[in-house]
Amino acid sequence: MVDKYQPLAILIDMIATTADVRSAASMAISAEGLVKHFGDVHALNGVSFEVPTGTVLGLLGPNGAGKTTAVRILTTILRPDTGRAVVNGFDVVSDPRSVRRSIGLAGQYAAVDENLTGRENLLLVGRLNHLSKSAAGTRAIELLDQFHLSDAGNRPARTYSGGMRRRLDLAAALVTHPPVLLLDEPTAGLDPASRQDLWDVIANLVADGTTVLLTTQYLEEADRLADRIIVIDHGLIVAEGTASELKSTLGETTVVLGFADAHAAGGAADLLCSLGAAVLANDAVSIAMPLRGGPATVRDALNTLADAGLVPQRIDLREPTLDDVFLSLTGASV
Ligand SMILES: Nc1ncnc2c1ncn2[C@@H]1O[C@H](COP(=O)(O)OP(=O)(O)OP(=O)(O)O)[C@@H](O)[C@H]1O
Ligand SMILES: [Mg+2]
Repeated sequence: MVDKYQPLAILIDMIATTADVRSAASMAISAEGLVKHFGDVHALNGVSFEVPTGTVLGLLGPNGAGKTTAVRILTTILRPDTGRAVVNGFDVVSDPRSVRRSIGLAGQYAAVDENLTGRENLLLVGRLNHLSKSAAGTRAIELLDQFHLSDAGNRPARTYSGGMRRRLDLAAALVTHPPVLLLDEPTAGLDPASRQDLWDVIANLVADGTTVLLTTQYLEEADRLADRIIVIDHGLIVAEGTASELKSTLGETTVVLGFADAHAAGGAADLLCSLGAAVLANDAVSIAMPLRGGPATVRDALNTLADAGLVPQRIDLREPTLDDVFLSLTGASV
């Protein structure tokens, strides 16, 4: 049962005694057959995964895929209907307090107290964690500095930009040095520079041994940070692997031929469709053709075009991106 005070209880547990719960478990997170239905909505339909200690798992999926539901189960906010999850060696259903003490959570929507300053927010978390006033103060200064918030540290959080709030939220999750971090779309809505900053912070935490599960809709984020990626859609895992495995098994290298005008490009697309699914690109003056037959496909294509008096002006090779993989798996573009 989830009552309305549960999030506060969870916060207090989470920040109670995190420091003493580092575990030697080789799997920091293990989820087995997680199912969660909300009435007719099947948010999770049997999802299993493992996150080895000290690694990053990226949970990738379109809106409504079930990412936040998985995070809420792992943080003990929700109970699974069936299935089992163990975090830092503790079962989320039978030992939720130990789980909460093992984790830091930065949710999809930053949860900072708007009326407190950045420094006061961090001090509050430190004090709730039984840090002495001076230890909490020192940690707050460290974190404000680490997250480039020192100058804004004495301003109420309500005056912060979206990016600053997100940084403060992540800083608050780190006050107690939790061994396992759960980040639900940590950089949603941030500008590229702020996103890059947060990626650097997360990469540093991982280098120091923290285990991270992060959900994201930004493929570049998963590509950049995650050791392994799980793609979920409609509550089911539809693919998993490293970014390069996903790209090489599900994406295709494509050759793009550019022409002088749309007429030439259209003619080339007609000629080459027999060679391998050549399609007219959105710009109408180039065509894209998957290199299914390897480099020989390019030779054959150029010969066929030359015979018809068509010579491309540009030739580009496009390596598969995670966007291509995501699009082909879920039909959703991001
Ligand atoms: N408390 C709830 N009651 C009813 N339905 C819910 C509840 N929580 C989630 N859902 C539904 O479960 C499905 C999965 O939601 P979830 O929030 O896990 O998706 P998500 O992958 O995090 O999506 P987003 O990228 O938009 O954040 C959605 O259809 C959502 O509407
Ligand atoms: Mg979500």
